[in-house]
Amino acid sequence: MGCDSVGIVGSGIMGSGIAETVIESGYPVILLSRTPESAKAMVNSIKGSFARKIEKRKKSTSQADEDLSRLICTNDIADLANCDLLIETVVEDIDVKMRVMKGLDEACKPSAIIATNTSTFPVIELAAATSRPDKVCGIHFFNPAQVMKLVEIVETLTVSQDTIQAATAFALSCNKEPVVVKDQAGFIVNALLFPYLNNAVKLLERGVASKENIDIAMKGGCGFPMGPFALLDLVGLDTALSILNSLYDEFKDPNFAPAPLLKRMVAAKLHGRKTKAGFYNY
Ligand SMILES: NC(=O)c1ccc[n+]([C@@H]2O[C@H](COP(=O)([O-])OP(=O)(O)OC[C@H]3O[C@@H](n4cnc5c(N)ncnc54)[C@H](O)[C@@H]3O)[C@@H](O)[C@H]2O)c1
Repeated sequence: MGCDSVGIVGSGIMGSGIAETVIESGYPVILLSRTPESAKAMVNSIKGSFARKIEKRKKSTSQADEDLSRLICTNDIADLANCDLLIETVVEDIDVKMRVMKGLDEACKPSAIIATNTSTFPVIELAAATSRPDKVCGIHFFNPAQVMKLVEIVETLTVSQDTIQAATAFALSCNKEPVVVKDQAGFIVNALLFPYLNNAVKLLERGVASKENIDIAMKGGCGFPMGPFALLDLVGLDTALSILNSLYDEFKDPNFAPAPLLKRMVAAKLHGRKTKAGFYNY
């Protein structure tokens, strides 16, 4: 696949970070969001990120303007018709994602690759919602996408090797480090990371230590850049709960059963940084 333009669906944390990465890599991007307000918020978040890079002399103003000129926002799916690669980054809800994949399949040219950024859902189920399961794979960026090098390329039972090669080449062209992984809940990173995050919440529930001390301990004792509660707030507690539920559904391993406190915090809409309150306040 020659990739001349990329369509991104969803303007949340990941849609915004991926759009920033992709325009910086020289691709024109069409971003599909539900409302002009969320598109505006996303453009402002990219502008804010560019302003910080300019301040740190990592980017020039003219380069930032040039990159931003490659980003077009729309709320009409028909505008994605000619994109070569589509990346869906909508909320981690299987029904919503199935609807989005079906809509993209109907709206986009037959040769286009449709990728999902899902953290845990079976990519094969999303592929089966389309008429082109050989052209559907996972391209799983990490948060913040503009910083994190890793991208998991998820290989389903039906995807073609041409698609996997094209997705891998795309990730490399965005200066990322792609790894190919089979379509199993959590892929590599989340399958290993989420039992740890969940057990940190259980440790807090048992009153073993304060959240601040657990974060200090894991930074100082394991050399992690942030502790589990700061990381859960960054990921989004709603997304974290959804990931744990999918992992539990797949493996029925008690380590994946979400800690009750996490469920209560999501019910209370304490979703972390994006709602300005989670384990910490922002
Ligand atoms: N947050 C992370 O750390 C992280 C990391 C890697 C992958 N992911 C995955 O990326 C995806 C998006 O996560 P996020 O953190 O950006 O979430 P988010 O909550 O920040 O954004 C979700 C987006 O989905 C849109 N949306 C919600 N309901 C919708 C609907 N009914 N129809 C269409 N769009 C709808 C929202 O408007 C928003 O743009 C998820 O699949 C998640 O698992 C998240």
